[in-house]
Amino acid sequence: MKKVSFAEFGGPDVLHLIDADEPHAGPGRIRVAVRAAGVNPFDWRVREGQFQGTHPIELPSGLGLDAAGVVDEVGEGVEGVEVGDRVFGEGSSTYAEFAVLSAWARMPEGLTFEEAAGYPSVMETALRVIGETGVRAGQTLLVSGASGGVGSAVLQIARDRGITVIGTAGAANQDYLRGLGALATTYGEGWAERVRRLGRVDAALDLAGSGVIRELVELTGDPQRVVSIADLGAPEYGVRFSGVAGSVPDALAETVRLLSRGRLHIPVEKSYPLAEAAAAHIDSQAGHTRGRRVLIV
Ligand SMILES: NC(=O)c1ccc[n+]([C@@H]2O[C@H](COP(=O)([O-])OP(=O)(O)OC[C@H]3O[C@@H](n4cnc5c(N)ncnc54)[C@H](OP(=O)(O)O)[C@@H]3O)[C@@H](O)[C@H]2O)c1
Repeated sequence: MKKVSFAEFGGPDVLHLIDADEPHAGPGRIRVAVRAAGVNPFDWRVREGQFQGTHPIELPSGLGLDAAGVVDEVGEGVEGVEVGDRVFGEGSSTYAEFAVLSAWARMPEGLTFEEAAGYPSVMETALRVIGETGVRAGQTLLVSGASGGVGSAVLQIARDRGITVIGTAGAANQDYLRGLGALATTYGEGWAERVRRLGRVDAALDLAGSGVIRELVELTGDPQRVVSIADLGAPEYGVRFSGVAGSVPDALAETVRLLSRGRLHIPVEKSYPLAEAAAAHIDSQAGHTRGRRVLIV
């Protein structure tokens, strides 16, 4: 099968489309013929070797957490899914023609593979971090970096739960945030004052890692109501850095529920052929994705 692989850490040019052995579904897993794979900032951080200190991987390695495709192997002990089902979910080395998934759900009617591949890991992250802030219906959540993949998910989950959101994004994404039900303002010089003018803040999320933790603590008045997924320095301010994926086991079920009720739509800003994974990384790394980027297999 064809697979995107890298044999050394480095820039996008270390990625190559190679011929590789097919993976197989072990116990509790399924294998899919991948139709689309989501691109996450995590992937280019792994490619650069950013996690070698904490979570080392061996080279050569594949990439990719998210996939949508058609089930073609069902591992021992797996029930409720059959060969031929259209599913989306999370696994490893999903930038490939076949991938093994550890979590999956049937795709709701009307969803394309391209769209479906964009949801799994950003929804898991969004559900996890909203929970960790403790924000409740009727309260206001400030989201720094609200227009990307995780931000788009957070805004729509919050809207569904009756939580008001104030989101920051670039000038080009203000209407996008408003379309997802948020109050919007731009980041950059004077942003905290602009947020204050929009209302009181009960909890806050840092999704961009742009060095705003101190201001988020000031705006909420409590470091325990602030969570970051992108600033490793957050704990210096008493703020939780959230980094353990997989702690929301029903994330895909909740995703299906929101999609089926028309309460969730994350746009795919651009999709790329599998052979152009490097171009997708360059664009993701530029840091201004609206919604998601996806590889088409
Ligand atoms: N710890 C975890 O569990 C976890 C999980 C998932 C992701 N992450 C990390 O979280 C971050 C976000 O992930 P993502 O998938 O949402 O990324 P993404 O889709 O690439 O989104 C990036 C967003 O950041 C915004 N942005 C850029 N500069 C900004 C600034 N100075 N202030 C505020 N916003 C700014 C951009 O908005 P504009 O285009 O409007 O400028 C863009 O929409 C990444 O660093 C990723 O590695 C961590």
